[in-house]
Amino acid sequence: MNKPLLDVLDHERRTPPPVWLMRQAGRYLPEYRAVREKAGDFLKLCFTPEFATEVTLQPVRRFGFDAAILFSDILVVPYALGQPVWYSVGEGPRLEPIADRQGLQRLKGEIDQGVLAPVYETIRQVKSNLPPQVALLGFCGAPWTVASYMVAGRGTPDQEPARMLAYGDPAGFAALIDRLVDASASYLIEQLRAGVDAVQIFDTWAGVLPAEEFRRWCMEPTQRIIAKVRVRVPGAKVIGFPRGVGAALVRYVEEVPIDAVSLDWTTDLGFARDQIQWRMPVQGNLDPLALVAGGAALDRAIDEILDTLADGPFVFNLGHGILPQTPIAHVEQMLARVRG
Ligand code: CP3
Repeated sequence: MNKPLLDVLDHERRTPPPVWLMRQAGRYLPEYRAVREKAGDFLKLCFTPEFATEVTLQPVRRFGFDAAILFSDILVVPYALGQPVWYSVGEGPRLEPIADRQGLQRLKGEIDQGVLAPVYETIRQVKSNLPPQVALLGFCGAPWTVASYMVAGRGTPDQEPARMLAYGDPAGFAALIDRLVDASASYLIEQLRAGVDAVQIFDTWAGVLPAEEFRRWCMEPTQRIIAKVRVRVPGAKVIGFPRGVGAALVRYVEEVPIDAVSLDWTTDLGFARDQIQWRMPVQGNLDPLALVAGGAALDRAIDEILDTLADGPFVFNLGHGILPQTPIAHVEQMLARVRG
């Protein structure tokens, strides 16, 4: 049986377009909150295959999405490199910051695949429970975005600590990025071997860098990850998501060998159609706040996206992760409209 999402990654147009939502497993779902509470700790949720499988399947069961995305987090990679990572309720992720080369030396040389083994077991369990037409996506964070949390020890508004380290000690910062390129490639290779159909690389903080830094810390490391992955898994399908880069998206899709690109919600739709979509399939890009707002504003936003992008290879999605306060009825309204 065909998977509509994989057809689109092969540059086919599907009507209606396949649809899934970034962060579709999460706190807006009461059934997620119940499992989250049972697990207690967020990393325990990620590393217990029975829990992680259940929350991966929940949004597919409830909404019939065309893809499931593996339940995990981008910060399991620093965790598997030996950096202490924890999640405090209401505060987001916290890490013991890496301030300099001494901090880098405390990391493991290679990612500890033993720590990540439960993630691969989750993939196998999800795979055997997923309807045949639903694609399973794996993912990792891009090195720049992951490094920005590793250096600051937490989320920051404009990634100032990581940008300062990159300017102050470019060779040291490059060593951290290199470590993440190797670790991320190994992680994605094992996800693909365990059965994911495609992977998405989240570069949530790509948009804070000047052009030359964007090339050096976002584009080049992502190119190297994809090259390494495809040596071991020929033809591996990759979706890129460099958030907030504006017109630099053209350079990204020309030079990074991805199969499709995810558009953030600020991306101009005409620009996406005329400059990006003739090169590759696009995914996106509903404003997550329009989904919170609902009503006529939501309908209008969906129609504009469909009118502009659905004549080509296209996956309907949000322009960033779904927000915890999103009403479930608005997700249903959205699906009914997208599927006609
Ligand atoms: O999409 C999915 O449903 C799969 C799971 C997934 C999570 N995080 C689960 C999660 C995915 C794909 C991610 C990616 C991720 N994690 C990114 C890149 C995408 C993006 O949204 O920008 C980033 C930057 C992170 C790091 C991270 N993890 C942050 C900043 C936070 C706190 C913010 C928040 O939403 O609470 C997390 C925690 C996290 N990761 C939660 C979930 C469901 C919420 C934690 C909880 O349930 O208590």
